[in-house]
Order: sequence, then C-alpha cells, then structure tokens
Amino acid sequence: MDERIPAHYGGDPIRDAVLGYGGQSIGDEEKQRVLDVLDGDYITRGPTVDEFEDRVADFLNVEHAIATTSGTTALHLAGEGAGFGPGDEVITTPLTFVSTAHAATYAGADPVFADIDPHRRALDPDAVREQITDDTVGLVPMHYAGHPADIEGLLDVADEYDLTVLWDACHGFGGTWRGEPLGSQRDLATFSFHPVKNITTGEGGMVVTDNDDIAERARRLRSFDMNYDPPEHADEPWYQVAEGVGYNYNVTDIQAALGLEQLERLEEFKERRDEIIARYDEAFADVSGIRTPPDPEESDPMYHLYAVEIRDEFGCDRGEFVNAMHDENVGVQVHYVPLHYHPLFQEEYGCERGDFPNTERVYEGLVSLPLFPGMDDSDVADVIQAVERLHRYHAE
Ligand SMILES: Cc1ncc(COP(=O)(O)O)c(C=O)c1O
Repeated sequence: MDERIPAHYGGDPIRDAVLGYGGQSIGDEEKQRVLDVLDGDYITRGPTVDEFEDRVADFLNVEHAIATTSGTTALHLAGEGAGFGPGDEVITTPLTFVSTAHAATYAGADPVFADIDPHRRALDPDAVREQITDDTVGLVPMHYAGHPADIEGLLDVADEYDLTVLWDACHGFGGTWRGEPLGSQRDLATFSFHPVKNITTGEGGMVVTDNDDIAERARRLRSFDMNYDPPEHADEPWYQVAEGVGYNYNVTDIQAALGLEQLERLEEFKERRDEIIARYDEAFADVSGIRTPPDPEESDPMYHLYAVEIRDEFGCDRGEFVNAMHDENVGVQVHYVPLHYHPLFQEEYGCERGDFPNTERVYEGLVSLPLFPGMDDSDVADVIQAVERLHRYHAE
C-alpha cells in the first residue's frame, strides 16, 4: 500500500484506534476522593461542594462561586441572576454553543447577535455597538477556545451604555488576561466542567461574581428559590418557603470531590495542553492553507480547543478535511455551526444566513484538532502526520 495515500482516498488509516478530539484525564487521587465522599454522609450538595466553591473563588480571586449542574445551567442562573427578563435584549456571539444564547432565552429575554472579530473569533465591540437599542441590557461574550475576547473593548461598550456583562468563560478556566484570571472580570462569568473542558466534574458548571446580589439570586434559584429561613418563623425550624420559580440545579459532593482533585492538577493539564499546541504550531507553520489559532495578546490562555481554519490553498475544503481525518481515525470537530443558522434563532428571532459575514467566513474553515492532556506524543504525531499527508496528497 502506498503510504502517501490518505485513508479517505484508499490508503491505510494512520491509526487503528480512534483518537477523540477531547476527553478527561482522571487519576488515582480523583478516584480516592470520590470514594471518600461515597463513604461519608453527603452524596448530594454538602460540605465538599462548599469547599469546591471556596477553592474556585480563591483561585479566581472573586467573592462568590456557585456550583451548578452544567455550564448550561450556570448560564441560566447567571442570566436570571443578572436580572435579564422579558422585553430585554442581550447581545451575544453567533459563533458559540447554543447554551450561551440561553443566558437570555431562559430568562425570557431576546438574544441578539453581533458579528465576531475574526482574529479572536469572539464578539467585536464595534459590531456590538451597531446592535444596541433602548432595550439592550447586557452582553454575553464568549472566550472562544479559551482565547480572551476583547475584554477592554467590550467593557468600554458596557460602560457607555450601562450594560451588564456576563462572560461565557466555559472554554477558558485556568487562563489569565493581563495577569487576572479569565472569568474574574466584571460583572459575572460562567464555566463548564464537562469532560472535554479544562477540568471536569463529569457534568458541572460554576457561576462566579463579585456582586453580592447576583450571587444571592443565583444561589436561591439553584435550589428551588427557597427561603430556608423565613424571618417570621424562627421557632418553626421546618418552615421553608418558595419565593419564586426556582430549579434543582444542585451539584453533588461526588462531583465536587472530582473537581477538587482536578483543580490540583490544573497546572499539569495546562502544561500538557501548551506542549501539544507548541508542537502543532511548529508543524503547521509551513503548511499552506491552515490558519493556526491567534497568538495570545496580553494573556496566558488555557486553550480548551486547538481550532484551525482550512483555506483554499490547503487543497481541499473543510468538509473534505473533516471526513478525511475521520477516515484516519483522528477525531476532529467543528465549533460551531453559527447560531443564526439554527431553526430556533431563524424562526423565533428572525435571523438569516448572511447576517454575520465574519462569523460565516471563519466558520467555513473551522476545525478543532484533538487537544487534551491524556494525548501522548505518538497521538500528537499521528494528528500531524494525518494533516501533512492530506496536504501533500492535494499538493501533488
Ligand atoms: C461556550 C460554551 N458555553 C456553554 C456550554 C455549555 O456547557 P455544558 O455542556 O456544561 O452545559 C458549552 C458546552 O459545550 C460551551 O462550549
């Protein structure tokens, strides 16, 4: 068999076993800590969740951290906690996972999209300005792949129009911007601890803020909007009252145990992600038609994704690239089909293809290559070899 022929065109695959694009890394410490919790009194939300929240708040240097069941429910609590509601408009990016927009929709507010800055692949402050109306109350920027959005530019817009900023930092746990932890910027932020993210609790998420009122509201909503201690019932210890429509987004001590040990390994995870990124950057520097992720400016991101853009000079388009990599047993993914392409946002909010040219242009080329700390050097070499072989095949 001619080794120069990619599997997609009849050659042998570079790998026998499928390599995913992301995944968790769980060690003995995590397993032991989970077992310790299972032997204890609390397996629902208890002291280990409190400890996890305290550790995250310390690490991020914020006043409050509220653990919840996912990044999606964190965005829900954050949107309602921030006071978004019916009649309000909240501006967000189309190049994100659907849950980002649900910070608005769950609260009854309207999501409004603005185009991205193609360099950072995140909300462009000038495009945001164009979407502002009298009903705009907030912004939900997303730090794509963990690369900081234009934080200063977006905060300037927020100041100018008195908007609340809710950062969807689900991709960026562990990164810094101008020396500050990503997600610690005002007014509030959310994280996801899904297994492909920078640390995991299985499923899980976190709302973080310095704002006492937002934190209080998010905590209440997480647990049925229940007042467990109504003042007029001090001598009736059983008396608890729902004061609104809350949820059960309580995370368990089992998950928090996992999260606490993952936090201990954050530095190790970041180092490994950085090593893999450096190898990719070096290997792809001379491959025409691949735009590698932007250099971090004034920041030290912890990248969740290594998202490249495939351009014409590569020799095949993104669709063919994805299928060819899958045939090599290399898992790749596309983050994301722009939200204004989804029936939900077209039918309910009047979005159309063509609305956001920068997003559409970036999306056409996007592919996330495998990036997770559990990859060994030969996994990384396989990915590089698969890309190079495909490129060479098309160049000949
Ligand atoms: C940018 C972004 N926001 C929110 C979420 C939702 O997080 P979760 O899967 O934990 O609900 C994701 C998940 O993929 C995401 O990528």
